[in-house]
Amino acid sequence: PAYHQAEFLTSAASLKGLPPEQGREVAFAGRSNSGKSSAINTLCQQRALARTSKTPGRTQLINFFALDGERRLVDLPGYGYAKVPEAMRRRWGKLMEDYLTRRTCLQGLVLVMDIRHPLTDHDWQMIGWAHARRLPLHVLLTKSDKLKRGPVMDTVRQVARTLGGEGVEATVQPFSSLKKQGVDDAHSVLDGWLFP
Ligand code: GTP
Ligand code: MG
Repeated sequence: PAYHQAEFLTSAASLKGLPPEQGREVAFAGRSNSGKSSAINTLCQQRALARTSKTPGRTQLINFFALDGERRLVDLPGYGYAKVPEAMRRRWGKLMEDYLTRRTCLQGLVLVMDIRHPLTDHDWQMIGWAHARRLPLHVLLTKSDKLKRGPVMDTVRQVARTLGGEGVEATVQPFSSLKKQGVDDAHSVLDGWLFP
């Protein structure tokens, strides 16, 4: 699978701007600053495919990256950023819900959470939308380089247990874009969704 060949395809501000419903897509959702864009870059072995930023709330559009003519990675706008005006937040919610619940070529959701702040209210909202249509869910606990090995494994287990307790089927793994850790595990999940 040619993750390193990924290229920017298009950005969409609304459902009308989405590429045609064709082939397979995997979306990355998560709080602003959780490391979604960085994870996409790391998984594609590229420095600046998806734009990353120290300022949260930068990715306001849905950004599509094509691995080939049939497969795409999708960088969804981050959420949970306090300074976003209420009207914009509502617009964001509608866009996320519509995309996650209606996009037929969507094969799976990668939920990106900072390992130090897992399972926020907005994360549960994403999980709910995915669960409603039985969309496969994979959790990346990013910035795992910020914790020692023990707490990393404790958090992985705790998040998996909490999701299981709510009846949500999901796989959970630690990930670090900084240290390039967890890349093989993430690739094998994406492979299963994009190259079945
Ligand atoms: P939005 O586009 O605002 O939703 O944010 P995002 O989720 O795309 O986050 P982004 O990838 O831009 O990363 C946010 C900040 O976290 C940047 O300063 C990154 O360098 C940093 N970061 C991302 N991943 C890691 C990681 O694995 N480890 C560490 N230490 N920092 C990371
Ligand atoms: Mg981003």
